[in-house]
Amino acid sequence: MSAVETESNPIEDCLERIAAVHGDPTDLVYERLFTKHPEMRELFLLDRDNSVKGNMLAQVIECFLDFTGEKHYATSLIATEKINHDQIGVPPETFETFFVTIIDTFRDILGDSWTERDETEWNRLLVGLNEAVAQQ
Ligand code: HEM
Repeated sequence: MSAVETESNPIEDCLERIAAVHGDPTDLVYERLFTKHPEMRELFLLDRDNSVKGNMLAQVIECFLDFTGEKHYATSLIATEKINHDQIGVPPETFETFFVTIIDTFRDILGDSWTERDETEWNRLLVGLNEAVAQQ
């Protein structure tokens, strides 16, 4: 475990390191998303100022922090969005890939400073969130 990590929320700690290294990761997250799912790019055609992309990622990150904190709303918000997205052309199996896309991007951004604890905590979040949403 490196010296920078605290006993606070390891996900929050990791997000702060990502912001320190790269600032806003929105550009890299959607670059990876559209490489994996080029068919999803056209759904954002009207989002010329990237505000929807930015807002969507921000809301997903808020869900990560809620789920690793108070667990007030993340599970129900994600379950609702999964249904909404199916209606706008995002199949559930593609919807679910967004979390992995985000984590893969974060791992890339931090490179060598991505720790074993980061790997463990993000995987724990991914498994926990998918299980909780599946039970909704
Ligand atoms: C590959 C996966 C995903 C794709 C392709 C996708 C696509 C989109 C698109 C095209 C919109 C704009 C809809 C519109 O114009 O009305 C949108 C909005 C939104 N998405 Fe996703 N989405 C994905 C995953 C997720 C996930 C996992 C969440 C979880 C919470 C989420 C939450 C939202 C929210 C909250 C908005 C509204 C943002 C706003 O209007 O500012 N999305 N999504």
